Amino acid sequence: MKILGIETSCDETAVAVLDITDKHVTVTCNAISSQIEIHRQYGGVVPEVAAREHARQIIPIIDTALDTAGLGLRDIDLFCATQGPGLMTSLMVGFETGKTVAYANKKPFIATNHIAGHVYSWMLKPLGETVQLDSAFPWIVLIVSGGHTEIILVKDFGVYELLGKTCDDAVGEAFDKTAKMLGLPYPGGPQISKVALQGDRKKFNLPRPMIDSGDYAFSFAGLKTAVRYALEKESISEKVIADMAASFEQAAVDVLVKKTIKSATEYDVSTIAVVGGVAANRYLREAFAVYDSEYTIRFPEMAYTGDNGAMIALAGYIQHTYGSENAGEYATLRAYPNLRLAS
Ligand code: KG4
Ligand code: ZN
Repeated sequence: MKILGIETSCDETAVAVLDITDKHVTVTCNAISSQIEIHRQYGGVVPEVAAREHARQIIPIIDTALDTAGLGLRDIDLFCATQGPGLMTSLMVGFETGKTVAYANKKPFIATNHIAGHVYSWMLKPLGETVQLDSAFPWIVLIVSGGHTEIILVKDFGVYELLGKTCDDAVGEAFDKTAKMLGLPYPGGPQISKVALQGDRKKFNLPRPMIDSGDYAFSFAGLKTAVRYALEKESISEKVIADMAASFEQAAVDVLVKKTIKSATEYDVSTIAVVGGVAANRYLREAFAVYDSEYTIRFPEMAYTGDNGAMIALAGYIQHTYGSENAGEYATLRAYPNLRLAS
């Protein structure tokens, strides 16, 4: 079965094709057009600019993906596109395009949940390599991205229990805002992680919000504010920037790791997956690696940490195969910016 996934929830126009036969998954192409350079001048994503750029890119990216896979639209058996959550005008471009090509080719269409895309992204192998879908449930997934910070217990394909989420900012957002305060360019996450390598992680005593709250909720707005107050007392230098980046990264990672490990212990789960844009963070990966002997820790390939079409194709396939999706209602399906995975 050939599945085409479209992702346009934020600032990446992404299209991928998966080949899935008897639960064996191969990514045959994974095309992405990033808008980072365009949004950098504004210091963040400008929704209307993003939507316009998606509209310009979506057809060429579909063509590129199909060319790479050596396929035509008629060869695709299932079309999937991100329905939400995300920016409404961005979502609409990919979602309406996905519906249209599915309808025109008389093939099923799956309105795919972006978070579900991240949830299974760790299962995907690099281009051309085949892997059997891992179905050893339950497992814990920590989703860390620009819009989300949540711990979810995955009981089966499509069966989720939300254990906790952020009460305010997502951790990726906190990375981006802290980077902005330090004068580092957008997107801030990779920049913080780069300059932190030269910094002293203990230099600034930043709070670890909610680390002992006893539940799985997070809060990152306070950490960001603590960075601002600490910076007001300093004169900015390269050393201060590196030390603050390192201290911030340490504080954020401490909370993420402690709560995730606690959830795995309490729910007696041995596999933990860490997914989303922030899962590209090296320091976070190292901090989880400490628990390698007690838990099986899974991270996605770097190519699948940020938003991509392959994860949408996989999650769409899972929704189609294991869920009760209404795959044919092209006319009534709409993009939905506040779509949830579990509550
Ligand atoms: O999953 P993603 O691409 O988009 C959303 O669904 O939000 O995540 C983007 C977020 C941004 O906040 C970005 O700064 C962060 O992931 N990020 C990182 C790193 N690479 C990307 N944060 C920390 N360290 C990184 N290496
Ligand atoms: Zn995402």
